[in-house]
Amino acid sequence: MLRIAVSKGRIFRECIPLLARAGVVPRDDPDTSRKLILDTNQADVKLVIIRAADVPTYVQYGAAELGVTGKDVLMEHGGEGLYEPLDLGIARCRLMVAGPRRAARLHRRLRIATKYVQSTRRYYAALGQQVEIVKLYGSMELAPLVGLADRIVDLVDTGNTLRANGLVPLEHIADISSRLVVNKAAMKMKHAAVSALVDALGRAVEEQAQEPA
Ligand code: ATP
Ligand code: PRP
Repeated sequence: MLRIAVSKGRIFRECIPLLARAGVVPRDDPDTSRKLILDTNQADVKLVIIRAADVPTYVQYGAAELGVTGKDVLMEHGGEGLYEPLDLGIARCRLMVAGPRRAARLHRRLRIATKYVQSTRRYYAALGQQVEIVKLYGSMELAPLVGLADRIVDLVDTGNTLRANGLVPLEHIADISSRLVVNKAAMKMKHAAVSALVDALGRAVEEQAQEPA
């Protein structure tokens, strides 16, 4: 049995064509079904539907042999117990520092609101800049508007969310896309089945990249 951990919404939607090319077709849609374990056309492959930030944890503990998750999530988790054999090239965006267009000159440490505490800490440490980090769980764009923070670190794709809130992108931290992750023990114990699926997904990514968007 192989279990693939995915989050519903964007990653599930963008993953479906790749899984289909690799021969895995789920029997249900998590946006309409309340089921958390989805059967597929292959009796020995199931999809486990969980929150995006929980995917590395499920795979690390072997509760799922494989998972699909954003590089942003992996950078926060640290990747312990995981192989990252494939960049799936889906859910592409950028991790960025953003803030108001005209920021006041500060005489204290910058205060940064983010759910990406580890990545933010590493980024500013590498710059040698002391900052105060405020952990949030979402809607980061609000923080500078109400005086909670001077800047945010968040994902940016079209930039529409920043613009709608009067913010601008300021510094690029990392390019983000979704990765296939594999439990290290499962890679050994279930090598034939896991590597067959990894290879099939690798071919699917290459085929999809050849096609016009
Ligand atoms: P949850 O819904 O559990 O709070 P979430 O809001 O992070 O989690 P999604 O918005 O579905 O869940 O994001 C899942 C992943 O998709 C992110 O970790 C990131 O890798 C990627 N992603 C997020 N926002 C964008 C975006 N605007 N464009 C492209 N990819 C994105
Ligand atoms: C993500 C991210 C940004 C937005 C950026 O939010 O947290 O707010 O996308 O995309 P843009 O640059 O194209 O506007 P998402 O749409 O996933 O909403 P959620 O995190 O609140 O679910």
